[in-house]
Amino acid sequence: MGLTLHRLFFDQLGPGGVWIARADGSPAGFLLGMVSLSEPDLAYVHLHAVDPALRGQGVGATLYRWFGERAMEKGCTRIRALAAPHREGSIAFHRALGFDGPLVADYLGAGEDRIVFERALPIP
Ligand SMILES: CC(C)(COP(=O)(O)OP(=O)(O)OC[C@H]1O[C@@H](n2cnc3c(N)ncnc32)[C@H](O)[C@@H]1OP(=O)(O)O)[C@@H](O)C(=O)NCCC(=O)NCCS
Repeated sequence: MGLTLHRLFFDQLGPGGVWIARADGSPAGFLLGMVSLSEPDLAYVHLHAVDPALRGQGVGATLYRWFGERAMEKGCTRIRALAAPHREGSIAFHRALGFDGPLVADYLGAGEDRIVFERALPIP
């Protein structure tokens, strides 16, 4: 994941993120995102992950729904997330949540293609 996990994102976006814990307080999943400064109607998901032991139980979808609800309170009408073309699980997850979007060549630099997923809020 490289710089995607830079502590900058945890320090600066953490308070606005979504954090889900088990009943005993141990982490189950988190989402770091922001309301875009360049497109104020856009909620942007930077990173999200669910504990491998808890996948397939709706935690990831809950992260997105809660983040979307909060972003709507700040005026957002749509939500965007990126996926690398080889990350089949992430692509399937976003499609299952109703996201769609183009594969953009070199989106993050030479050889770093990304699918730029987007959908309207709320996420049902
Ligand atoms: C992607 C990820 C967050 C999904 O979390 P999750 O809690 O397992 O997802 P959910 O259980 O909420 O699934 C929501 C929907 O996505 C689908 N889905 C999730 N992961 C999938 C996979 N690997 N393959 C196919 N479909 C998948 C589910 O079937 C479900 O569809 P449904 O509503 O039609 O039943 C999780 O697999 C993960 O943490 N992956 C590693 C980190 C990552 O890739 N993050 C994204 C890039 S930052």
